[in-house]
Amino acid sequence: MAKFCISPPSQCLALAIMLAILMSSNTLEALKPKISNLQFYMHDIVGGPNATAMLVAPSEPLNISGTNPVAAMFGSTYVIDDPLTATPDPKSTLLGRAQGIYAMSSLGDEFSLLMTLTYSFVSGPYKNSSISVIGRNMVMRDVREFPIVGGTGIFRLARGYCLAYTHSTLGFDAVVRYNVTVLHY
Ligand SMILES: *[C@@H]1O[C@H](CO)[C@@H](O)[C@H](O)[C@H]1NC(C)=O
Ligand SMILES: *[C@@H]1O[C@H](CO)[C@@H](O)[C@H](O)[C@H]1NC(C)=O
Ligand SMILES: *[C@@H]1O[C@H](CO)[C@@H](O)[C@H](O)[C@H]1NC(C)=O
Ligand SMILES: *[C@@H]1O[C@H](CO)[C@@H](O)[C@H](O)[C@H]1NC(C)=O
Repeated sequence: MAKFCISPPSQCLALAIMLAILMSSNTLEALKPKISNLQFYMHDIVGGPNATAMLVAPSEPLNISGTNPVAAMFGSTYVIDDPLTATPDPKSTLLGRAQGIYAMSSLGDEFSLLMTLTYSFVSGPYKNSSISVIGRNMVMRDVREFPIVGGTGIFRLARGYCLAYTHSTLGFDAVVRYNVTVLHY
């Protein structure tokens, strides 16, 4: 450090003390991330009287000679409010809700959604906290991964990832298992 101290020694000492305070153990402890693992099931019901996913913008008819069902749905946009439960049974403990928007965003031959969702928790250890997720959902794949870009409550400044697995489907309705790894302070 001394080689950077070109000013009078008393100023160097003040600087050293300030650094020591900044790096005190409390500060370091506060900066140390915790890792939490969350497991839940998301219930997405598309249309019908009990819908949790609502089509708000249908796709334009495209000139694709009807050969590409994926591209035919390009642009379809849904607003969702899906319950998150402890087990695949929709009547099991309600842990939270996934609210936000997903949109069909593939012109290729593989379905993919852009997910922009908040997962807020209403019971359990993460009650009143939420995580925000933005990611690409290739719905036909066994495992999808979505980045966690932030959060609120105990998940302030969170980062992490969700692994999503289709548990069951009925028409367009789906029950999706989530395994979430989140770093927070
Ligand atoms: C909608 O929910 C109600 C109340 O839970 C239930 O009785 C009814 O069978 C559901 N309808 C459909 C189409 O799932
Ligand atoms: C649709 O595409 C075909 C060839 O891909 C073209 O011949 C036809 O004119 C197009 N129709 C419209 C309405 O753009
Ligand atoms: C969650 O928020 C409610 C309403 O503000 C409050 O009463 C409750 O104590 C909070 N619970 C936790 C675990 O923070
Ligand atoms: C959840 O994901 C973590 C880390 O990615 C993994 O170690 C763990 O085995 C997974 N748990 C389940 C139940 O899938």
